[in-house]
Amino acid sequence: MATISKVRTPRPLARTARWAEPGSKSATLFARAQGVLPGGNSRTTVYMAPYPPYAAAGQGCWITDVEGDRRLDCLNNYTALIHGHAHPTIVEAATRRLALGASFPMPTPEEIDLAALLCERLPSAERVRFTNSGSEAVMIAVKGARAFTGRPKIAKFEGAYHGSYDYAEVSLASTPETWGSLAAPASTEYSRGTPPAVLHDVVVLPFNHAEHAVARIEREASHLAAVLVDPVPNRVGLVPARTEFLQALRDVTRAHGIVLIFDEVISFRVGYHGAQGALGVTPDMTTLGKIIGGGFPVGAVAGRADVMTVFDPTRGGPPPAPHGGTFNANPVTMAAGLAAMRLLTPDAYARLADLGAKLRASLDDCFKQAGVPGRVTGLGSLFRLHPVDRELSDYRSTRATPAESERLVRLVRRLMEHGVLMSITGLGCLSTPMGDAELEGLVETFAAVLEIERLA
Ligand SMILES: Cc1ncc(COP(=O)(O)O)c(C=O)c1O
Repeated sequence: MATISKVRTPRPLARTARWAEPGSKSATLFARAQGVLPGGNSRTTVYMAPYPPYAAAGQGCWITDVEGDRRLDCLNNYTALIHGHAHPTIVEAATRRLALGASFPMPTPEEIDLAALLCERLPSAERVRFTNSGSEAVMIAVKGARAFTGRPKIAKFEGAYHGSYDYAEVSLASTPETWGSLAAPASTEYSRGTPPAVLHDVVVLPFNHAEHAVARIEREASHLAAVLVDPVPNRVGLVPARTEFLQALRDVTRAHGIVLIFDEVISFRVGYHGAQGALGVTPDMTTLGKIIGGGFPVGAVAGRADVMTVFDPTRGGPPPAPHGGTFNANPVTMAAGLAAMRLLTPDAYARLADLGAKLRASLDDCFKQAGVPGRVTGLGSLFRLHPVDRELSDYRSTRATPAESERLVRLVRRLMEHGVLMSITGLGCLSTPMGDAELEGLVETFAAVLEIERLA
C-alpha cells in the first residue's frame, strides 16, 4: 500500500496548547460550566481530563478553539461531518430551508427526497423512518423488530456501541473480570441501575466469531426479535466484520425469522452503498445517523417494506409500533442531509477510501519507524489507533488495558497540542475537504509526536 510522503511537507503542524494553560478561555468556560452542567457539557464523549478545549468555529477540515488555535479536524464530530465544517452547499441548503420555517406539525417534501436517496443507495432500504439521533434510530429499529416478530429479546455484540439506549448499552464495557466465556459472553450493565430485565433480554455474542455467535443465536432463537450488529464497530476496535461472519448471521437469522439489523450510523461512511454494499451482506433493517444529516441532529431506520409496515398508520388503528417525535424528519436537517449526501458521489467515496487506505498505511509505518507499539485499523475514511502490537480481531483483543489506554490518551493529547484533533479513544476520520497536503502534515506531526513518546 502506498503511504503518504513525509518529504514534500516536512513540517509538523503548529503548536496548539493554549487551552491547557491556567486561566485560558477554555479553563474559564469549563469552570463556569461546572456550575450548570455536570462535567461541564452535555456529552460524556467530549470530556477529556482535566477539561477539553472549547470550540469556536470550523471551516473545511479545520476547527478553531476559543483560544484561536486551529487544528486539523480528524474527528469531524465523531464521523458525522463527512464534508468538514460549513460546506457552502450545505450552508446554503440549510439556511434556505430555515428561512421558510424551522419545523411543522405536518410532513415536508424534503423527507421524501432524502428517503428516496437512501432507498436508492442502500441495498436493504425499501422504506425509511427518520429520527433525531442514531440512538433513537436503534431504539426504534429494536421496537420495530419486536413488533414484527412478537418476540422480546435482542442479541448484540460484546463491546459494540449503538448509542444511549439501555438495551443497546448492554456489555458495552465488559472487562476480563465480568465478560464470562467467549462462547456465551455475560450481559453486563454499562449504566448503573440497569434493570435486570434489560440484561435478561439482551443476549451477548462475540464479534467475528461466527460459530459461537450462530450457536448462541440458535439456542435463543424462539425469543429473539433481532440481531443487532455494526459491520465496522468502532468500540470493537474498528475492525471490519469478516464477510463469512456477516453471512453466517444472515443465514441463521433468516432461518429463524429473526430481524437482522445493521447499525450503519458510522459505517455508511465506508461506501456509496454502505458497509452492507462493501461487505456484500444485506440486512433486514439498517440504522443510520451522522452523515445523513449534513451536520444536524439526525437518525433513520431503513428496511424491507414488509418489516417497515409495523410503523404504518394507514392500515386502520394504531400501527404495531407507533413512532412519534416532535422533530422527526426536521426539514432543515433533511435539506442539509440531502445536500451532503448528493455531494457524496461514488467518486467522492472512492477518493476518501483511497486517502484513508494511504493514511492507515502511513500511520502504521510511523509506529514501526519509531519502534513504538501500535497498530491502525479501519476502513474507507475511518481509522483507529491502537497502542498495542498484537493481532486485533474482536472486542477482547482490541480492548485496551488501563496502561494501554493511558498511553493512547497521552498520544492523542500530544496530537491535540500539535494541531490535530482526534478522539481520546484513538478514533479518527477524514473529510472531503482534506487532501494530500493536510494528510502529509498529519503524518509528519504523528511521527514527531511518536518520537516524543519514544524518548519519554
Ligand atoms: C454505531 C453507532 N450507533 C449509534 C450511535 C448513536 O448515535 P447518536 O450519537 O446520534 O445517538 C453511534 C454514535 O456514535 C454509533 O457510533
